[in-house]
Amino acid sequence: MDAYDAIVTKRDTRSYLSDPVEPDVLERVLRAARMAGSAKNAQLTRLVVVTDPEIRTALTECGDFTSWIDQAPAVVVLTCPVETGRLFDLGRMAQNLMVAAHDAGLATCPVTFQHQDRIREVLGLPADVEAPHAVTLGHPGPPPAENPLRAPRIPLDELVHRDRWSS
Ligand SMILES: Cc1cc2nc3c(=O)[nH]c(=O)nc-3n(C[C@H](O)[C@H](O)[C@H](O)COP(=O)(O)O)c2cc1C
Repeated sequence: MDAYDAIVTKRDTRSYLSDPVEPDVLERVLRAARMAGSAKNAQLTRLVVVTDPEIRTALTECGDFTSWIDQAPAVVVLTCPVETGRLFDLGRMAQNLMVAAHDAGLATCPVTFQHQDRIREVLGLPADVEAPHAVTLGHPGPPPAENPLRAPRIPLDELVHRDRWSS
């Protein structure tokens, strides 16, 4: 799969087989994540790779739309120091990880943790570290009969303004 195809065919997937991700494939995906650039090359993002079933179940309580995430055999939690405005860094790393995973035949989905006190408790994070997002990772399961969360994209003309904002 070339890079363009990997980017445009990747879809967020919430159905997984229980088979673990092979360690060498997981390492390859994490290496792709590691190469994401960060502002001033500060490299403040840290990942917590969760495969333990009990901790995965506890993670389902950390977000408002995360009830399903323990189905995935691995959840890669992205953390950064609190209030450093590092969401762009974190998103770049998540996208690297997801595109590399897609290239390896794995499914992924980004998720949001709204309940920071709970995730701090679950993962034992220090008070000055937050974990706003994670990426679920695993071999894809059967596609659901219908997926109301699978969204079409707006047309390019609606997305892109050229030179100046145009109504
Ligand atoms: C920053 C971010 C946070 C997201 N949080 C959640 C979430 O908490 N739960 C969930 O099921 N999906 C979550 N998603 C997945 C989106 O719903 C998904 O990207 C969107 O529906 C497009 O899906 P598609 O690429 O399969 O078309 C999140 C996506 C992003 C980019």
